[in-house]
Amino acid sequence: MSYREIYEASLRDPEGFWMEQAQQLSWMEPPRQALSQDEEGRQRWFRGGRLNVSQLALDAHVNAGRGEQNALLYDSPVTGNRSAYTYRELRDAVAYAAGMLRDLGVGHGDRVVIYMPMIPEAVIAMLACARLGAIHSVVFGGFAANELATRIDDAQPRLVISASCGIEFDRIIPYQPLIDEALQRAGHAPEHVVYVPRPQAAVSWTPGRDLDWHEQMARAAPAEPVPVDATDPLYILYTSGTTGKPKGVVRDSGGYAVALNWSMGAVYDMHPGEIFWTASDVGWIVGHSYIVYGPLIRGCTTIVYEGKPVRTPDAGAFWRVISEYRAKAFFTAPTAFRAVKKEDPEARLLGDYDISCLENVFVAGERLDPPTYEWLADTLQRPVIDHWWQTETGWPIVANPMGIEPMPVKSGSATLPVAGYDIRILDDSGREVPAGEQGNLAIRLPLPPGCLPTLWHDEARFRQSYLDRFPGYYDTSDAGYIDEDGYVFVMGRVDDVINVAGHRLSTGEMEEIIGNHRAVAECAVVGIQDEYKGELPVAFVVPKDGVELSAERIEEELAQMIRNEIGAFAALRRVAVVDKLPKTRSGKILRKSIRTLAGQEREQLATPSTIDDPTSLDEIDEAMQAYGLR
Ligand code: COA
Ligand code: AMP
Repeated sequence: MSYREIYEASLRDPEGFWMEQAQQLSWMEPPRQALSQDEEGRQRWFRGGRLNVSQLALDAHVNAGRGEQNALLYDSPVTGNRSAYTYRELRDAVAYAAGMLRDLGVGHGDRVVIYMPMIPEAVIAMLACARLGAIHSVVFGGFAANELATRIDDAQPRLVISASCGIEFDRIIPYQPLIDEALQRAGHAPEHVVYVPRPQAAVSWTPGRDLDWHEQMARAAPAEPVPVDATDPLYILYTSGTTGKPKGVVRDSGGYAVALNWSMGAVYDMHPGEIFWTASDVGWIVGHSYIVYGPLIRGCTTIVYEGKPVRTPDAGAFWRVISEYRAKAFFTAPTAFRAVKKEDPEARLLGDYDISCLENVFVAGERLDPPTYEWLADTLQRPVIDHWWQTETGWPIVANPMGIEPMPVKSGSATLPVAGYDIRILDDSGREVPAGEQGNLAIRLPLPPGCLPTLWHDEARFRQSYLDRFPGYYDTSDAGYIDEDGYVFVMGRVDDVINVAGHRLSTGEMEEIIGNHRAVAECAVVGIQDEYKGELPVAFVVPKDGVELSAERIEEELAQMIRNEIGAFAALRRVAVVDKLPKTRSGKILRKSIRTLAGQEREQLATPSTIDDPTSLDEIDEAMQAYGLR
């Protein structure tokens, strides 16, 4: 069938379409109904079906005779370690880890926070939770203690699983001080912290609370997969919203497994036994879906890479891993390729490796800028596939359906809607706009399987964030347009979320943190375009009257505050001290005008008659020029 036929079938009869896909998986109790409403009026996929995602990702392949095939390859240039797990070995490791968690009192519905570097134990811990029907919440290892504490308080986990350290290039990042601080800040106290000790950093154990992963594993008996409802949560993944409180995106088990299995074939053209490499981090949605669950449910071999695109040891790192493990498809963020291009613009290091195995390259997480696209396509002479999705959807919304019918690429477009996603462009009053016109990217309900059913313990925020603005639609908070051929162009966020080196961050949260500084009267943080990181946050700060701090000192302290409260990857380095901020007559800060100024699109600025003090714009403009931001 052609892409068009498949896509149209998925919208004409979503229930029939997804029920057929569900039959590809071995359920413990197959669902009888595809879509139904739950008690709270939410549309849910596959209610009544029972399954276990760890069983689908591991035991099902062992039982089908694939036990000796590699499931997970670990490559760590930062430690020099490598290892491989067959499906049988990974199944056994996960079964023992699940036994360990069970001994520690973890059961169905309990939460477990996982704060780990890119080591196999991170994947094992996730799958062990899934095996027991427990709900994991992985926190990216780059987050500072405060972010970890917020997530611990919201998820209320029984346990935290961690390692003694992460490694950033040649820098050891001990995790224990971060966890200790997070637990001091958090109101909720998990019963235990289980550490994977690594030779690079020791743990000073808190007796009774801290446990050694290896000792506990040695004592454990393997646990069998526990049947769970299709609508039981598999995980919570926190993502940045517009305030300091992150959104706990809930992922249900059945719909997610069905959607990932389908997408692995239809979008990524991956089949059992093939090797799929996603260079990201298990702390992000890309890691959840396409390092862990997608490739394993599909029966592929996945690669856990504890390194960077550059300086581990050089800009040939990606080509080395692809060639060494014979990856058929590779997926990373555009920023990672920009890092490679910056260090090796001629891609000389590519000459050292045979990457003939590589068929397709996928990128997502931020806009693929045309210069990076052209460099990649020229360098690799292979399809470079941009695709658009969000933590909330869990899998691609717009992509090139490489496993169905590769479509011609248009630079700047993520190509065509994926099956199940009925995408419309709406103006601010909710009316559809004609082809070629820019507006809000919205998805007509129902969302396909795998997308978030709610936010953790915050249904009201779920409705308010995604459903209330355009009744009958999911509001993506991205803007864009669809051209006459149906190609979707995603232009950027319409809210206070920015994307820094493929990391999603909230400018609202940064403003809340900066607003606590003793010298700051008010502030606005906006994202400005950056050639390397995509976007970079810049803070415009009005100091309090009578404050004796120099602008340099304020800049330094605020940058440090953001590092300490969010993490170094937030990369707030530029702070402009100004006398006033542009505001509307009613006192709202005109962030959009500040962003527009940075983009040098003066004609789209709020009209001076609606601004409280139009000279404030000139002042921001001057500050940008003085700080080299324009
Ligand atoms: N633990 C601790 N610190 C971390 C960290 C982690 N897991 N990840 C990043 N940091 C720190 C870095 O060490 C750096 O610290 P510094 O300012 O003290 O030097 C800071 O955060 C900024 O890091 P980053 O934004 O990652 O920049 P970089 O120059 O170190 O690396 C890339 C650039 C492109 C390699 C990196 O940003 C990257 O891999 N991005 C892709 C993200 C991604 O996979 N997104 C998911 C969508 S596919
Ligand atoms: P995250 O939830 O971290 O995956 O971030 C999701 C956001 O990243 C989206 O809402 C977009 O703003 C942006 N994004 C992700 N992929 C793309 C893409 N291919 N093109 C443009 N923007 C993207």
